[in-house]
Formats: sequence, structure tokens, C-alpha cells
Amino acid sequence: MADIAPVLAEQCATCHREGGVAPFAMDSHTMVQGWSPMIREVLMTRRMPPGQIDGHIGEFINDRLVDNADIRKIIAWVDAGAPKDGDHDPLAEIVWPESKWAFGEPDMILDIPATTVPATGNGVFVNVEVQFDMPEDRWVRGSQIIAGDRSVLHHTVNRLDFPGEDNRRRNRGGSGNSDKANITAYIPGATPDLDPPNTGGLVKAGSTLRLNMHYTPNGRETVDRSQLGVWFYPLGEVPEERMSGECACVFPNTWTTIPAHDPAFEQTASIIIENDAHIHSLLPHMHFRGKRMRFYADYPDGTSEELINIAKYNYNWQLSYTYEEPKFVPGGTKITAVAAWDNSAQNPANPDPDRNVDWGNESWDEMFFGAVNWKDIDQGGED
Ligand code: HEC
Repeated sequence: MADIAPVLAEQCATCHREGGVAPFAMDSHTMVQGWSPMIREVLMTRRMPPGQIDGHIGEFINDRLVDNADIRKIIAWVDAGAPKDGDHDPLAEIVWPESKWAFGEPDMILDIPATTVPATGNGVFVNVEVQFDMPEDRWVRGSQIIAGDRSVLHHTVNRLDFPGEDNRRRNRGGSGNSDKANITAYIPGATPDLDPPNTGGLVKAGSTLRLNMHYTPNGRETVDRSQLGVWFYPLGEVPEERMSGECACVFPNTWTTIPAHDPAFEQTASIIIENDAHIHSLLPHMHFRGKRMRFYADYPDGTSEELINIAKYNYNWQLSYTYEEPKFVPGGTKITAVAAWDNSAQNPANPDPDRNVDWGNESWDEMFFGAVNWKDIDQGGED
């Protein structure tokens, strides 16, 4: 138990705890012993932790991989009857941080307008706005959305408009090279990142954040009161560097219909990173039929390299994968995302294998975003 508990605490209990997103808490030996046959199974099939990527490619902070040696240790322990060995229960002693916020109390907390979510329905999309009522423009270091009712809030998409700006321009997954801050979307199981030191984006006083909230009704009517927390740089401090982001995306105009019953239909999309840069993170997004996504780089010297392989994409866990060491790419590198969908009856998440599926906002339609976040290396003279 003494050498099992730290693995469970680190790899599982962030979700499997009181108030966490998972259905049972690993907060005592008795609890874990009761679940131990299932724990054995999900480890053997690598179903847990969710969102695991192919461990042979790239080094990511949140690869969600459990070491093979740890898996063997836990399985042997389960097979031995999951003994407690001694009076001491290390799982009962874990203390979780009080604050729900990732980086301590935010500098600004904004209430997202409350939404009544009905008891039934396939998916409920609500557009709401949040106003940055503040006297001065501020530079953002990080942001986080906390779900009011996590049992119904599935994810959010947002766009920041400076005052007077409402050009309906799509701005998903990044804001190119502009100064505009990227406000972190809500994604189940994902933890937000702070920008690297001296790096940030701007929110002008009076800006509007337009949010699209996606709810999945859970059988009883409920009211969701989510909140947005923002961490700023101190007043007067202007971070010199910007993150850049672009999406290797397929939009309606270039979408190829996914044929009914196709178990592995592929599409690809590419972007070019113009300048020498460090890639910080990669984020795949598809809907219920999403099966896998991989990203690779074609370098200007003609060589290419696999960047990441999200081999078992799961719509419930749209995680952004952050490099342990930001990945250098020379200017002119082409990044390609290859997505595949499983539109067969073998996919338990597939709402209708008989349908030919087009691009659409609803979960039962499909999308393809391969968002890439990077930082240009030479940002000299930018301010
Ligand atoms: C990111 C959150 C998260 C992490 C980390 C996580 N789980 Fe889970 N777990 C869930 C959720 C949510 C469910 C409910 C079923 C689902 O959504 O797949 C679940 C379900 C389970 C179940 C029940 C099986 C079932 O079919 O429902 C077991 C057993 C389990 N997890 C074990 C583990 C173990 C062991 C680890 C660590 C090695 C782990 N989980 C890490 C979120 C998580």
C-alpha cells in the first residue's frame, strides 16, 4: 500500500476525490480495495487515466501515462487482495488545496450569467457575455473558468472583443500574432497554464468576452453559475512577449462529408509557422466520432518528425497537451494535423452510424480543430 498510494494520489486522485469529476473517491484503503478489480481492469486496458497519448512520441507534462513498472506493481497488489499492510492509511491523509482556483485567488473574478439547464435534451448551447468592467487596460498572465455545475457544463468556447469591436470574426484556438489575450476555455479534466514569464496578452478596459456554453442535460433541471478568474500582471507592467496560436482546422467550406459506417475516415489540415519558434502546446478537438489525431512537422530542410499521437481520442476529455520543454521549430515549418473519425456502430459514443456527417456546432455533427500554440523566438522591437 505504501508504494501504491503515491501513484494513485498523483495519477488518479486529482479526479477521484471528494468533489472531483470522477464517480468515486480514492480517499481510503477501504474505498480503493472495493474498487480494486475495476482499477486492475482500467489499468490493463489503459482506459484510465483518460486522454493518454502514445508515450513514444514527444515529452508532454500531461501525457497521462502511468509507468509500466507502476502498473505491474498495482496489478500485483490487487492480485494479492489489495492489502493495507499496517494501520497507516496514506490515502486518508492526503490534503487537497482549499482553493478551487489553479494559481491562488485570481486578481479578478467575473460571474458568467447564470443559465437554467433543462432536465433533458441532447445538447444545449447558450451564448452569454461577460464585461471587463475595469478602469484600466490590463495584461493577462492566466485565466480559468470554474464550472458552476460540473455535472452539466461540458465545455466552453470564447472570443474576446475589445470595446467597440464585434466583427463576428471567428477566433478559435488563438489570436494570431495580435496583442489580444487568450482566455482559457473550460474543458473537463484540463488544468489551465500560466503564460511563461514576461509573456501575456491584453484585455482593454470595457472589453467583452463572448462565451458559447455547451451543456449536457443530466436528468434534472439545474442552474449553472460559472465563474471566470483572471490573473493579471501588476499595473504598469507590460510583458514583452506574446504567445501565438493558429489552428490546423477544417471549416465548412473545405469539409469532406464523413460517410456512414466508415470506421476510420481521415482528413488533414496544415498551418505554416513563419518564424523560428517554440511550440508550447497542441490541442485536438473533434466530437463524438473523433477517433484519433496526430500532428507532425515538415521542416524546411525536407525532414519531418512526428510531434504527438493522440491515439485514443475521447470527446469527454479534450485536453491540451503541453510540452515539458517547449519544442523548437525553424521558421517555415509546416505543421499538419491528421484526424480520423469512427462513424461505425463499433464506436459506443456514435449517436447514429447511419448518418453521413457534416461540419456543425452540435455534438452529433463533427468538427476538426488541431490548435497549435507557440511563441516566436525573436520578438525584439515589439514594444
Ligand atoms: C482526469 C480525470 C480522471 C483521472 C486522472 C482518472 N480518472 Fe478514473 N474516472 C474518471 C471519470 C470521469 C470516470 C467515469 C467514467 C468515464 O467518464 O469514463 C472514471 C472512472 C473510473 C473507474 C470506473 C470504471 C468505469 O468503467 O466507470 C475506475 C476503476 C477508474 N476510473 C480508475 C482510475 C485509475 C486507477 C486512475 C489512475 C491511474 C484514474 N481512474 C484516473 C476520471 C478520471
